[in-house]
Amino acid sequence: MLSEKMNEALNVQANRELYSSYLYLSMSYHFESINMKGFAHWMRLQAGEELVHTTKMLDYVAGRGGRSKMLAVEAPQFTWASPLQAFQHVWDHERVVTGLIQTLVKVAEDELDEATKEFLQWYIKEQVEEEESSDNVLNKVKTAGNDKGNLEAADRVLGQRSFKFPRGFEIFP
Ligand code: FEO
Repeated sequence: MLSEKMNEALNVQANRELYSSYLYLSMSYHFESINMKGFAHWMRLQAGEELVHTTKMLDYVAGRGGRSKMLAVEAPQFTWASPLQAFQHVWDHERVVTGLIQTLVKVAEDELDEATKEFLQWYIKEQVEEEESSDNVLNKVKTAGNDKGNLEAADRVLGQRSFKFPRGFEIFP
């Protein structure tokens, strides 16, 4: 059984994961609106991954006899001055999320909740991957600079991203 404090902290983090999904979906439609379909596709898959993170956490809360609550989701930014600004935002955002997960592990330690600490290891590993992939993409966009041809080439590369969603999340591709 989860402590009340742990239950609340997990619900808040699930909300931040959902916000991440909302943010990346917002970026996806932003890129769609400026006809950068590859960047839009990359962001759409990213949004889908974040929805998986959200649900995995809420499922864990419910499975431990806690109460999964849907908290209000903040409205994200909806336009960016350049692809570089958007991908820099992704990178910065992922570092913030890593910090939030580390704080959550600290709550689990304080609550002497070994099971939750163990569960959160999946998110710790996931954040290592998320930081690496957002760093790679940011570097590609930085290298493209303001050159239209280079940006179109980067857009085509990112448009090839694939991700195998768990059952039940196939709506995203
Ligand atoms: Fe679920 Fe990208 O953090």
